[in-house]
Amino acid sequence: MVCLSYLLTAAAAATGAVASPLEALKRGIKPGQGTDNGYFYSYWTDGAGSIDYTNLAGGSYKATWKNVGNWVGGKGWNPGPPKKVTYSGKWDNYKVNSYLSLYGWTTNPLVEYYIVEAYGNYNPSSGTKKLGTVESDGGVYDVYQTTRTNQPSIQGTSTFQQFWSVRQVKRVGGNITTQNHFDAWKKTGLKLGTWNYMIMATEGYQSSGSAEITIGEIKE
Ligand SMILES: *[C@@H]1O[C@H](CO)[C@@H](O)[C@H](O)[C@H]1NC(C)=O
Repeated sequence: MVCLSYLLTAAAAATGAVASPLEALKRGIKPGQGTDNGYFYSYWTDGAGSIDYTNLAGGSYKATWKNVGNWVGGKGWNPGPPKKVTYSGKWDNYKVNSYLSLYGWTTNPLVEYYIVEAYGNYNPSSGTKKLGTVESDGGVYDVYQTTRTNQPSIQGTSTFQQFWSVRQVKRVGGNITTQNHFDAWKKTGLKLGTWNYMIMATEGYQSSGSAEITIGEIKE
């Protein structure tokens, strides 16, 4: 996402789709990052289909996507050190391939992580070995690790690890104490690096859907 044109090109190469920033713009997709109402926001797309992403007041955003390849976006923080995040909103994409997760990156090592609160017709941890569980904020999450080889990242096309906490009982709304997940990952031998951005993200994969999410931070 730092190097958008590079990412779009990489994604296009990976999927065989024709995609470039210009192509995406022509289709009305404006991927980007920035600050809105004091929150960091980011949205990324591989260029296929269409996305209407809108920042709303405070920590809110809404998005509607149609026939995408892969897109992910939302509001949060950059950098995103450990926080107690609270979120609420509408996300009803249980019948399609979509995730609602607290999503972030670290560098050195480069890690993409997901604390998945709800997912649609595909469990992102399918086919991977469960490393353990973590109890947090009234729920139990399964912990997984996967490896991405030559995939788009915040540092261009790279090979990197993904860490996952997937809530056993899906929900849309609640608190997420990120430190609990970071500690659990560490305990299973998964090493995070320097905090990069962290957003309460909606993601769509080969699907159409919509979401409207509000985030905040609980300072105790
Ligand atoms: C989130 O945390 C706040 C502050 O600790 C608490 O008042 C609230 O009940 C929590 N919400 C949920 C859904 O657990």
